[in-house]
Parts: sequence; structure tokens; C-alpha cells
Amino acid sequence: MNGNHILILLIVIIFLLVYKYDTQPRKRGQINIPKVLHENKTTDEDSKRSFSRICRSKGYPFKKYKVLTEDGYWLTLFRIYGTKNEDPTEALQKSKPAVFFQHGVVDSADTFIMNDEDKSPAFMTANAGYDVWLGNSRGNKYSREHQWLDPDDSEEKYVFFDYSFEEMAKYDVPAFIDFILNTTEKEKLAVLGHSQGATTMLVKMSEDIDWWNKHVSIFACLGGVGRLQHTSSKLVKDLANQNLLLDAVKRLGVVEICYHNYYQSLIFSTICSISPSLCNFLIELVADASSEANNHSRVDVFMAHYPSGSSLKSFEHFAQIIVSGKFQKFDYGALNLQVYNQTTPPKVDLKAIKDTKIIQIVGTADHLSPVEDNLWLKSELGSNVVFYEEYFLGHTSFLLANDMQFMKDVLHQFEKNKWD
Ligand SMILES: *[C@@H]1O[C@H](CO)[C@@H](O)[C@H](O)[C@H]1NC(C)=O
Ligand SMILES: *[C@@H]1O[C@H](CO)[C@@H](O)[C@H](O)[C@H]1NC(C)=O
Ligand SMILES: *[C@@H]1O[C@H](CO)[C@@H](O)[C@H](O)[C@H]1NC(C)=O
Ligand SMILES: *[C@@H]1O[C@H](CO)[C@@H](O)[C@H](O)[C@H]1NC(C)=O
Repeated sequence: MNGNHILILLIVIIFLLVYKYDTQPRKRGQINIPKVLHENKTTDEDSKRSFSRICRSKGYPFKKYKVLTEDGYWLTLFRIYGTKNEDPTEALQKSKPAVFFQHGVVDSADTFIMNDEDKSPAFMTANAGYDVWLGNSRGNKYSREHQWLDPDDSEEKYVFFDYSFEEMAKYDVPAFIDFILNTTEKEKLAVLGHSQGATTMLVKMSEDIDWWNKHVSIFACLGGVGRLQHTSSKLVKDLANQNLLLDAVKRLGVVEICYHNYYQSLIFSTICSISPSLCNFLIELVADASSEANNHSRVDVFMAHYPSGSSLKSFEHFAQIIVSGKFQKFDYGALNLQVYNQTTPPKVDLKAIKDTKIIQIVGTADHLSPVEDNLWLKSELGSNVVFYEEYFLGHTSFLLANDMQFMKDVLHQFEKNKWD
């Protein structure tokens, strides 16, 4: 591609990222995908289904909860508490070990049930006899709600969307985990995080390892993003370096990106069902050095549910990490002194993580969490890493792979390190 192509692509992507207007009223439990695309069943029924409907259609006992964070966000927490076709009442009476899943950036809990049923991480875990809980980060399509802030208000939106994974670590993680342990009356649970979901857990562990070890027995880190010195996606690197662009977007009053709207679902699922290869090309531009490992027949289902909305600041934080090459807190520039009492943002103190168990799952075709940076993370985490393995997977393959051997290995580690 030459410079002009990149520019046009950037403009299209930026339009899709910041465009928010929704013309179609949302029906309960229904994703807004135009009917015309599905008349001939060229795409899977799951493209049109919301999380609860996918679970119900496949026979999994499902519940939904609202969890309040200390700083006022209402977050949606999903729960798959039985194996396929298990009687819901009986499933609830059984005392199953709990596992908490946290998704990646601008994603949602949907992401863990997008693959074929026997290959979706959440269903695999439920069928292995676990009580599976799935969080939705603040500001995504399921958690766009606050006790006193209105995300659509022209003033309050600046406060509502003033967050990155730091706030998710500080407020969302304890809110979810306390709620789960309280509801299940358990002492401990296991955590599985993908991408930003894993980053969030690393930040929480680095800041409060005693709290973590009291509540969490083992953590599966899938494509975890820490330091990013080897991001191989040229597009992501170029975008990260676009300070002028970022400033211009901010000046327009954009604080929220990838709001899950009608046109996004329309454009993405159309592209992906008509031309999976174009869709794979986009995925390869951003996330996967190769999409070979993915089931290409599930990409349109995935893209009908993704992206799910987040703050611009979440992206900005990752951009800073790419540019600085350091796993550090948000860089407020001239305001750092005021915020941190030092001119540069503090690093995330991975050395503070101790006496815990981490399963590190790494994709050799992962653009966003490359092997080199994972090896660095492994050395920082030292003896906390009880299992480290590289697989031929891209960043989205953790969700969409044809071969989900890594997830079987995670479940094997869960079994081996029983906590319940
Ligand atoms: C569905 O298939 C029929 C027959 O192949 C075709 O005439 C019709 O236009 C198709 N509908 C859509 C929406 O593609
Ligand atoms: C946990 O349960 C206790 C009593 O059942 C309740 O008072 C408390 O608010 C609960 N905490 C959370 C975080 O739900
Ligand atoms: C700020 O940093 C200076 C120098 O490191 C230290 O002396 C001072 O106590 C710090 N202030 C606060 C409020 O932490
Ligand atoms: C890929 O997805 C399609 C559509 O759901 C399914 O029929 C097929 O079995 C999947 N392939 C693999 C290898 O999982």
C-alpha cells in the first residue's frame, strides 16, 4: 500500500471509530444487523444474537448482574453457570469453582463465545465444570451507565470517559471479584484475561498483591499486553505516533470511540461476510501477523459484535506505551508533577508481584503482544509464571482459532492447581 491508501484507510477507520449516531432502535437482546444480509443464511445466526441469546440457543444456563464500582459505574457481569443442557436449578446448587473472564480493549464479554461452540473459551470452561463469570469493562456497550454521570451529556462525557486500564484495575476488578465471591460464597476464584483484560490484572496485582492473593488463586494471561517494544503492526505503530491526529480528534470533543452502532455492525459484518479475505486483511493490519490460525467462517460473527466501545484515553494509553517502549502509567505531560509528584509517569511495578500463579499464553503471530515483549514480561514476573507456552496464534486467535489447544492447556492448569 502507498501513502494515499493508508490515508484513505485511516480516514475510513477513524470515521468508524468515532461515528456514534444510531438510526435504528435497538430491540431487546438483538444486535442491529440489517436483515438483508441474513436472508440467505450466508452468515451464522449468532451474528444477530446477543450474549444471552447465544447462550440460550445453545442450552447454557445464563444469568446477568449489574455491579456498582466505588466510583459510580454500573457494570454488566454475565454468568454461565452450567454445562450444556444442564438443569439450571441443579447447576446452581452444585458448588462449582468460579472463573472470572475479562476481555480486551474495545471488546466485550461476547468475545469469549464467538468461536464454534466447542471452541469458545467460555463454553469450554463451563463444560469443564466451572462457574464462568464474564466482566464488561466500563464504557463498553453493556456497561455504558453511571450513577450520576450521563455518557451522552456534552459536559459529563468528559468525566465519564476519563479512564484507561488503570481505572479498570483500580475499580472494575475489585468490584467484579468482590461481587462474584460474595454471590458464590467462595474464598477464591481463578482469573482469565485477554489483551487489555490481562493488562488490567497485571496493574491490579502490581498495586495490591496482598488483596489479589487473598482472592485469586491463579491467573491465565492470554496475549497480555505489558511493555510494547516489538509491536509488528506498521499501522498500529503509525497510529500511535499520530499526535497531531489525536489532538485534532480530541479538539473535536471526541472522548468515546468505537461506540457499537448500526453502521459499524453493518459495514464490518458486510465486509466480513462478502469478503472474509478483506476482513482478514484488516485483522492482519492491526492484530494478527497472520490470520491463518483463525476459523475464517466465524470472523463475520466476531465482527458483528466487535468493536464494543471504549474511551479514547484507553487507546491513547496504549499509544504512549508503544511510543515510550515502557509499561507505565498514563502520561499527563506537563501535569505529571501534579498527578504523580514526578515529571515522568511511574512504571507499572511488576516486581511487586509475588507469591502468585500465572499461566502465560503467547501467540507467535500476535502483532499486539509479540513474543519478544512476552519474554520480557515472563522474566519480570519470574517464578510467578507456573506455565509458559507459545502457540501459532494471532491476537484474535485466542478467541477464534481452529485449534484451541492452548485453552485445553489452561483448563489442565486450572485442574492441576485446584483452588476450590
Ligand atoms: C437469496 O437467494 C435468492 C436465490 O438464490 C436470490 O434471488 C436473492 O436475491 C437472495 N437474497 C439476498 C438478500 O441475497
Ligand atoms: C456482600 O454480602 C454482604 C452480606 O451478604 C453485603 O452486605 C455486602 O454489601 C456484599 N458486598 C458486595 C460487594 O456485594
Ligand atoms: C514529592 O517528591 C519529593 C522528592 O522526591 C518528596 O520530597 C516529597 O515528599 C514528595 N511529595 C509528596 C506529596 O509525595
Ligand atoms: C469453523 O466454523 C464453521 C462455521 O461455524 C464450522 O462449521 C467449522 O466446523 C469450523 N471449523 C473448525 C476447524 O472449527
